Amino acid sequence: MNLTNQLILSVIRLLPRPVVRRFAMRYIAGEQLDDAVRVVRALNSKNIMGTIDVLGENVSTREESLAAIRGCEEVLHSINQNHIEANLSIKLTQFGLKIDEEFCYSNVKRLLEIASGYNQFVRIDMEDSSTTSDTLKLYERLRSDGFENVGVVIQANMRRSEKDIQRLISMKPNVRLCKGAYIEPESIAFRGREEIRFIFLRLFEMLLDAKCYVGIATHDDFLTHSAYQYIQESNLQKSKYEFQMLYGVRSKLRDQIVADGHRLRVYVPFGQHWYAYSMRRFKENPQIIRYVFRALFSGD
Ligand code: FDA
Repeated sequence: MNLTNQLILSVIRLLPRPVVRRFAMRYIAGEQLDDAVRVVRALNSKNIMGTIDVLGENVSTREESLAAIRGCEEVLHSINQNHIEANLSIKLTQFGLKIDEEFCYSNVKRLLEIASGYNQFVRIDMEDSSTTSDTLKLYERLRSDGFENVGVVIQANMRRSEKDIQRLISMKPNVRLCKGAYIEPESIAFRGREEIRFIFLRLFEMLLDAKCYVGIATHDDFLTHSAYQYIQESNLQKSKYEFQMLYGVRSKLRDQIVADGHRLRVYVPFGQHWYAYSMRRFKENPQIIRYVFRALFSGD
């Protein structure tokens, strides 16, 4: 972490929670499920879909995992009861991936069974590289066990991603493609901005050429416009892809994508663990701190 980022992070750590809360709440719907439902309803009224995330990750006990599962079950019931256009995003370390894989599998399976009763979809987020193999393994197992209502995430910055796609492609995975949020060692990850953009587009084309559904998760103008170009040139139907963005980020670009006639989904996190979550995100990727400041002052 460079000196400026370290300095900003130390200042943020010293700030009282209510002040940090003001920063964090730009990117988080609130502490309660009702807050997430309210935000998704407002997005739906603008023709934007949602994906709800219950904040929390890396739990260390089975009890915490079971509590996280109950929180996610409530989300699924609530999406159905409130007739909102949304699905659920989950993190496997929240469900015990690092405690016991079998336990984690049974937790996710239970969730997918409930989701499937409502005809709902669950996306497994991708966390740092210590979880990539286990996450993909669990996803592949769910698919071989017949679950169709589950999707995965591929990070363009990871050197392994092209091979992962080649292996997954026969399953026709529903993939959210993103750059990758975690700073990883150069031996396993690309670092250069242009390099990651280039790989992102290569993976995007690979997935679409193989007729996989793709969630194009980016706020990068260059990638958005390159995706537009591919969509237009290949006459891609709207049902084959969607754009995805984070809540609170680049709302003007978001509205433009919708105005241009594309499907768009916004990632809406909520929950009581917002403080720990925000601090971890700031620490993992100090670039976010700069985004927060820039966004606060630019009004975008
Ligand atoms: P880039 O970082 O170049 O950002 C372009 C511009 O967007 C910036 O200049 C800034 O203005 C704004 N911006 C981007 N991110 C911002 C932020 N967090 N706060 C404020 N402004 C921001 N990663 C991962 O490893 N696993 C995952 O499961 C997911 N899931 C996911 C879901 C969705 C819906 C999105 C949009 C993204 C993710 N990501 C993710 C994060 C992703 O990997 C990546 O880190 C961020 O999207 C930033 O990369 P961009 O492509 O947006 O470009």
